[in-house]
This record gives sequence, structure tokens and C-alpha cells, in this order.
Amino acid sequence: MITFSTIGTSWITESFIQAAKQTGKVRLSSIYSRSEETARGFASNNGAERWYTDLDEMLKEDTDFVYLASPNSVHFEQMIKVIKSKKHVFCEKPMVISEEQWRAVSELAKQEGVFVFEGYRHLYSPNYTVFKESLANIGQVRSAILHYIQYSSRYDAFKAGKEPNVFSKEFAGGALMDLGVYPLSMAVDLFGKPNRLEYFPVLLDNGADGSGTLVLTYKDFVVTILCSKIADATIPSEIHGENGTITIDHIAPITKITHYNRETKQQHELGKEQLELDMVYEADEFIRIIMERDIHAYQYAMERSRQVVQCLEMAQNKG
Ligand SMILES: NC(=O)c1ccc[n+]([C@@H]2O[C@H](COP(=O)([O-])OP(=O)(O)OC[C@H]3O[C@@H](n4cnc5c(N)ncnc54)[C@H](OP(=O)(O)O)[C@@H]3O)[C@@H](O)[C@H]2O)c1
Repeated sequence: MITFSTIGTSWITESFIQAAKQTGKVRLSSIYSRSEETARGFASNNGAERWYTDLDEMLKEDTDFVYLASPNSVHFEQMIKVIKSKKHVFCEKPMVISEEQWRAVSELAKQEGVFVFEGYRHLYSPNYTVFKESLANIGQVRSAILHYIQYSSRYDAFKAGKEPNVFSKEFAGGALMDLGVYPLSMAVDLFGKPNRLEYFPVLLDNGADGSGTLVLTYKDFVVTILCSKIADATIPSEIHGENGTITIDHIAPITKITHYNRETKQQHELGKEQLELDMVYEADEFIRIIMERDIHAYQYAMERSRQVVQCLEMAQNKG
């Protein structure tokens, strides 16, 4: 059985632990927190065998991989440590915040013979595969509107004068890094890296983007991405082709997919039932890549991560 440790003790780590256990292929060895009290409670609540407040000590354990969900700006330093300890890393999105970091991580991982994997739960679900395949039905794509607009409970804290990490530039927070990266990675996965990219952020008082619009220009079409942590959306996302339109209810998770045929004016539902905890699918794929040493799938995912971080850098330079 594959064993793992975790970094970060918020709800997303608990969700991953639950998802990983649901694959039936892993055992949680240990968890790390900067605080002893949190470490004890988190280990006990999540059935970890051991807990640590010293990351270097935890990395001396003989585990197979580490799930990493600290604030975005902290990922790089922790990932380097994990890779040097010869463990695979599953790192939450966005894995890195510059192409330079991506290169350092990628080269070190190769040298140490381990895999690094960026957590993109929306890109590994069965409904994403259906959605991707359904694009063959709509002819030449001409435009798309993809969005992740969700009011954050942490915005209330921000408005009360605090600065949660997710609204902090120092921690590489903000709408684009936190939510925009979901539709952005989807666009890159579907269409590759755009020829041009512009980001129009809506800045909060501390300079972080509370929301924003990202415009990706491809040779024959334009993808518009909206992201926000300070409002809610009620409309779906759409991809428009010359022969039809594909609509998805949400970027992550996709539960409803509708194909509209322009000629017949008919609509068909394509979505399948899938697990509510969609992190199970990405956990399963990561474990498969490790077990089968699937270099091809690994290189595909890493190249996508590289293109996404290139886009994030382009967006910030223009923002
Ligand atoms: N896939 C998804 O659906 C999803 C959802 C939410 C978040 N995420 C990603 O998960 C990551 C964590 O997000 P989050 O909202 O959970 O972040 P967060 O609450 O700001 O921090 C997560 C954990 O990191 C540790 N931490 C906090 N500040 C730190 C610092 N300055 N240095 C080192 N460790 C620190 C804390 O654990 P201790 O205090 O116990 O050390 C905390 O529980 C981000 O990359 C985010 O994008 C993914």
C-alpha cells in the first residue's frame, strides 16, 4: 500500500485525505502543522499514525508521497524539500507562481526520480472527459466564456480589516490565482497556450485582485475567463462552435453538460453521475502515475502546468 503525509491543515487537506482513502490504495502515515495543538487535533481527526511540527523530521519518514496544501507562495520552498527527500509530491493549484520555479521543480524531480503533480480536480473527473470529447460535435470553436465566480466567506474577514492569505498578494492570493486558475487550466488543456493574453483585474484596497477578466486570444477564437471571490454567478459557462454550443453548469465540479445543436435547435444532456468528492479522481490518477511510472501522462500534466504558469505570469505583468 502507498503511504503519504500531508502539509497544511485546512478543510482542503481533510478532503484530500478522505478522497485518497476512498481510492483504497493509500494509507495516511503522518501530518505536519506548524502548531502542536493543531497537529494533534488534525492527526486524531483524520486517522494519521504520527504528527510533526518539524517538516524536516516528517520528511525523514519512509513514505511514498506528500500532499501539499499550504498558501500558494509557500509551495515552492516546501516542494523542494519534499523532492529532496525523494518523495513524490501532490501539490495544490497553483503549484508554482513562476516558470523559473516550475523549471527548478521539474529538473529536481527528474534528478531525484520522483513525480510532481498539480492538483486540478476538475480536469480528472469523468464529466470533464465527456465535456472535452463533446467539443467534437460543435465544429470550429469561435468563442468561449468560462467562469469561476464565488463569494468567499473569507471576504467578510477581509472587509472586517483582516487579510486572509487568499486575499493577500504576499501569499500569492487573489481571484486569478485562487479561482481563475481553474478555467485557465481548462482552457490550456482544451486549446493549448494562447497567442495573446490580457488580464483586467478589479483590485481591492490592498492591491489583491478581488475579481478580474482574463482574455485569451487564439488564432481562430477568443476565450473570456471571469473569476471573482467577491460575488456569485448564476449563469453557466459555454463554448460556442459554428455548429453548436456546449454548456457546463460549473467549472469544478462539472455536473451538467448540455449540447445545443444549432441546426436542429435541439438540446441533449451529456453529463454522467459522478462522485460528489471529485478529488477522488485526481488522487486516483496520481497514484496510478506513481504505481505504473507513467512518464507519458506525467509529462503531459507537467507541460500543461508550465503553460498555465506562463499564462499567470503574462496576466500579472499586464495587470
Ligand atoms: N482543489 C481545491 O478545490 C482547493 C480548495 C481550496 C484551496 N486549494 C488550494 O490549497 C492550498 C491551501 O489553501 P487554503 O485556503 O487552505 O490556505 P490557508 O488556509 O491559508 O493555509 C492552509 C494551511 O497552510 C498552513 N499555513 C498557513 N499559513 C502558512 C504560512 N505562512 N507558512 C506555512 N504554512 C502556512 C496552515 O496549516 P498549519 O497552521 O497547521 O501549519 C493552513 O492550515 C492553496 O494552494 C489553494 O489554492 C485548493
